[in-house]
Amino acid sequence: MANFTGLAAARWRLLADAGWDLDGDGLAGAPRIRCFVGEERHETIDLGLRYLGLGRPTAVPADAQGRMVAADLDRLLSEGTGPALVCLQAGNLHSGAFDPFDAAIEVARRHGAWVHVDGAFGLWAAAVPEFADLTRGMALADSWGTDAHKTLNVPYDCGIAIVRDSAALRSAMGLQHTSYLIHDVEGPGDPFEKAPELSRRGRGVPVWAALRSLGRDGVAAQVRGLADAASKIGSRLADVDGVEVLNTVDYTQVSLAFGDDATTRAVTARVIEDGKVWMSGSRWQGRDVLRVSVSNWSTDADDVGIAVEAVSSALAAVRAAG
Ligand SMILES: Cc1ncc(COP(=O)(O)O)c(C=O)c1O
Repeated sequence: MANFTGLAAARWRLLADAGWDLDGDGLAGAPRIRCFVGEERHETIDLGLRYLGLGRPTAVPADAQGRMVAADLDRLLSEGTGPALVCLQAGNLHSGAFDPFDAAIEVARRHGAWVHVDGAFGLWAAAVPEFADLTRGMALADSWGTDAHKTLNVPYDCGIAIVRDSAALRSAMGLQHTSYLIHDVEGPGDPFEKAPELSRRGRGVPVWAALRSLGRDGVAAQVRGLADAASKIGSRLADVDGVEVLNTVDYTQVSLAFGDDATTRAVTARVIEDGKVWMSGSRWQGRDVLRVSVSNWSTDADDVGIAVEAVSSALAAVRAAG
């Protein structure tokens, strides 16, 4: 819903700028919005575009870490004309990698595109000065989506959309004729003007409480702790015979393989069956992987040790059986 909200604002603004009255005339007959996504975007981007009737996006090639290649974005944008929407990603779910915001947003701007960033867990890197290289340029985007229920560890269902163009956001999500409701005309506006639902529970309360209790430094420490644990898990497992760490671990994600796909699947099943840690199997860049995503605030050195031991002993058991 966070991504959907940013994309809905984008649709409204791009069509308004093209002289199309979306609210009055709907989408049929409107100028086509060309949508560009990284080859490794999260599928919720496609889902949001589908909800909005924007169709299948054009996938821009990604590099070995899953980052969009800005030169390819430029090439693909140059092949057509008309309104364009570019979706970038902060935090690839397999590698943790961040799209090259500086270069990609410069390209997008040159083509007059709206830029949305899916930062489900990666947007939080912006709180940590040491991660400035990962997030450089991200602030220039038009909209961001993120999840407080991931990195901030509040309960599920706390997506956050941040949209620079408040008129576009309110036009896409707000109500126009509800005189029975008390409207906040002077202040920052009401939640129901900026989110898909009218009535909804107070999702902002736990988010506010977590931010209030952690403060800026606490958020930074939490993010740093997650990335630090991932880095230790990656480097310690890289030393174990038979383990391949497939990604550059510079954020919270580690993708592991153990030779062939069958062995990786068997190790994954064994880790899950043993139940000491939770990691999931996935496929990344044509290979089966065991995917580690460090996201719980309480992960400490003991947990890192337990995770390394769980993977190592699962691999040993699979080898002994095989
Ligand atoms: C990059 C990215 N985008 C979007 C999502 C979807 O988030 P949710 O499951 O909270 O809807 C995820 C979930 O892992 C993600 O990693």
